[in-house]
Amino acid sequence: MASESHKGPRESESGLSIEPVYGPDALAGWDPAERLGEPGRYPYTRGVYPSMYTDRPWTMRQYAGFGTAAESNARYRQLIASGTTGLSVAFDLPTQMGHDSDAPLAQGEVGKVGVAIDSLDDMRVLFDGIPLGEVSTSMTINAPAAVLLLLHQLVAEEQGVPAAELTGTIQNDVLKEYIARGTYIFPPEPSLRLVADTFRYCRAELPRWNTISISGYHMAEAGASPAQEIAFTLANGIAYVRTALAAGMDVDEFAPRLSFFFVARTTLLEEVAKFRAARRIWARVMKDEFGAENPKSLMLRFHTQTAGVQLTAQQPEVNLVRVAVQGLAAVLGGTQSLHTNSFDEAIALPTEKSARLALRTQQVLAYETDVTATVDPFAGSYAVERMTDDMEAAVRELMLRIEDLGGAVAAIEQGFQKAEIERHAYRIAQETESGERVVVGVNRYRLDEEEPYRPLRVDPEIEARQRAALERLRAARDGAAVRRALTALREAAGSDANVLYPMKEALAAGATVGEVCGALREVWGTHVPTDAS
Ligand code: 3HC
Repeated sequence: MASESHKGPRESESGLSIEPVYGPDALAGWDPAERLGEPGRYPYTRGVYPSMYTDRPWTMRQYAGFGTAAESNARYRQLIASGTTGLSVAFDLPTQMGHDSDAPLAQGEVGKVGVAIDSLDDMRVLFDGIPLGEVSTSMTINAPAAVLLLLHQLVAEEQGVPAAELTGTIQNDVLKEYIARGTYIFPPEPSLRLVADTFRYCRAELPRWNTISISGYHMAEAGASPAQEIAFTLANGIAYVRTALAAGMDVDEFAPRLSFFFVARTTLLEEVAKFRAARRIWARVMKDEFGAENPKSLMLRFHTQTAGVQLTAQQPEVNLVRVAVQGLAAVLGGTQSLHTNSFDEAIALPTEKSARLALRTQQVLAYETDVTATVDPFAGSYAVERMTDDMEAAVRELMLRIEDLGGAVAAIEQGFQKAEIERHAYRIAQETESGERVVVGVNRYRLDEEEPYRPLRVDPEIEARQRAALERLRAARDGAAVRRALTALREAAGSDANVLYPMKEALAAGATVGEVCGALREVWGTHVPTDAS
């Protein structure tokens, strides 16, 4: 079979040409001493820790959650028994949107794309038998992130875990929800106020908690190129930094607990360059623009998830190969935490077996390959170093365009990021349609007849069970105490007070997620997208 003839430099997703340009002369005049630096040292191009994985591998943190708290708790225990080293909670849409399972808007969505959490009772069940002082917990929750954080803290306190030792992350990145995905509740201004309140609360009460996971993943899944993914994410990061500074915090008080979340695509070399460029840009922005002095304020620590959009429903077992390559890209790129997708996720929720196989992929990378024995193995590579420089240039150009528009929030309100992503997504779709961008099993090497697949089914009774639990909760709790606490929360929301303190009181008294978010909606209203944003 004749091999595909090259049609000259093919432009990759980030606008980088990835053929003939990167020959041995690609680094002419490039000074390693000046350009490279050391692992664990500013500007962290080669990784945030001096030893990286030679001491310990990245956190194997599989995103999971569905049905009731009990069903998800069982899945977390299975994952811990299989060797996962960090928890990652997926919440259902009603929880993400701040509605209880018995709200009209929740109908049909309860427990579907994640676990249904309405109350402290549910949170107790979710972490039953899981020692929160020994494992860090990531929670993919944005608009009501503070609510779920406080429920988590209340359960940890009941387990006897001192708040100062509690570790984990809330995604808490509402800006990217206005750009992609859409699980926002309040308008941008009160949303950013809530983020600043959360930063201040964690600084005082939960010093080891990562207060935000500034995410590029969802923008990448919406079609963003690698350069767009990094530029729009770092621009959102700058907006959060400016928000916290405007709220009176010193940059070194909150910056060490910022974290990031990116995708890993199958284009391995470009992804490694992407991660290395992102670290270098962020370190320089934090040092030069914000005057951060604490080295931890300059480190871009990130979680990676392999690319969901690159999974195919056709010949799903081929996804095992894609996920392994994508996971390797994240590791060679220096990720701190990794989720590897299950091969069947393009079809349905992962089964226990497919979820375990996804984790095993990470364990093979960590314990059977030799990639953990060398820090930043691509350092000095003429292709990857040149790609890192070119990626940095492409990212900086996009970040400057956002600054010219008035910063990330203003650019979002003008619909800039969304339009840019849609334009690139359209190009990917055209190239896939034409076959120029090969998707094995889809537009090349197809099967005439796909084998049948039996996906996991979520119990349809989950919604009724969750409604019954809410009725029992409301009957058993001290209604007057809840009403008083919610009134205090509304008053705080209308003042400059930090809302997380009355919020914690209300949750401890038995207020539900929907009631707490409802109290905030009464004061702050809800975001209504303009046709541009
Ligand atoms: N040398 C020195 N210290 C080291 C080290 C090394 N080689 N490796 C680790 N450590 C230390 C760290 O300094 C840290 O100490 P600290 O807690 O005192 O700071 C500790 O060991 C833990 O290490 P990390 O912080 O590097 O690793 P974690 O896993 O704890 O944290 C993170 C990683 C990226 C900072 C954190 O924010 C995180 O876990 N994020 C996860 C986010 C996530 O899972 N998101 C899921 C999103 S899914 C989604 O959005 C839906 C989509 O899928 C559709």
